[in-house]
Amino acid sequence: MDLNLKDKVVIVAGGAGEKGSISETILQALVEEGAIPAILDIDDRGASYVDDFSQKGTNASFFKVDLTKEFEVKQAIEGVAAKYGKIDVVVNVVGSNDGIGLDGSADDFMESLKLNLVSYFLTVKYALAELKKSKGNILNIGSKVGLTGQGGTSAYAAAKGGVLAMTREWAIDLVGNGIRVNAIIIAECWTPSYDSWLKTLEDGEKKRQSIVEKIPLGKRMTTPREIADTVLFTISERSSHTTGQFIFVDGGYVHLDRAMLGE
Ligand SMILES: NC(=O)c1ccc[n+]([C@@H]2O[C@H](COP(=O)([O-])OP(=O)(O)OC[C@H]3O[C@@H](n4cnc5c(N)ncnc54)[C@H](O)[C@@H]3O)[C@@H](O)[C@H]2O)c1
Repeated sequence: MDLNLKDKVVIVAGGAGEKGSISETILQALVEEGAIPAILDIDDRGASYVDDFSQKGTNASFFKVDLTKEFEVKQAIEGVAAKYGKIDVVVNVVGSNDGIGLDGSADDFMESLKLNLVSYFLTVKYALAELKKSKGNILNIGSKVGLTGQGGTSAYAAAKGGVLAMTREWAIDLVGNGIRVNAIIIAECWTPSYDSWLKTLEDGEKKRQSIVEKIPLGKRMTTPREIADTVLFTISERSSHTTGQFIFVDGGYVHLDRAMLGE
């Protein structure tokens, strides 16, 4: 199936994750399809990814941005539009389950919202004029935590709930412009940050086991590649009549009958 993503300019906000992260895997998958990723990230890894790509003759760019800073987001997106003359897709990936719970301060709560929620608003706000011209689309990375809760992470839960609400809200706002807006919901996906978190626990391996046992399909975590493949399909014209959707790539974690857990 040809996804026809060749030469599509795709902003990946939070696109410079470590090797093997969800964002880095999305980046590699976009490049495989011949798309042009424009990485917006605070980490200089983005520059080294772009160097690697250009050595292979692939077009990509990196804009070093703190996505919590409105002016920086505006400037970077103007830079993408000036460089390529268009923006076809915005993929919002940035996010951190930072554990700001009921014992956190209001300032910490607000900082977490800025990263996990407000940044999504800013990228879309400033890319919108170009998306209207290209009849592009928006894809937000959501989390099960926004629907199920997790405990101990009020700000992230509020932010990811907000990301889903904005997905539906924007799908309505932009339906008249032919702009599709969707979210992919992740439950348990094996990434470097997941690994680092487990390593902070006293018995991380036991915790990992207890998590995977509760994932119905295959009793294993989702791979970043499974997320990236669904991202590619959803942003492509092959998904041309899909908007306002929450697409769960979670091995049945959120919806399947809990009776399965005993099996
Ligand atoms: N791994 C899971 O099981 C899981 C579950 C649910 C949701 N998710 C979501 O998936 C997404 C990707 O997760 P990941 O752990 O692979 O992350 P990642 O490593 O792919 O991406 C995080 C990126 O955000 C960047 N970043 C952080 N703060 C920034 C800032 N202020 N400005 C600009 N960039 C900034 C980092 O440099 C990094 O490159 C997140 O939205 C996360 O909430 C993951």
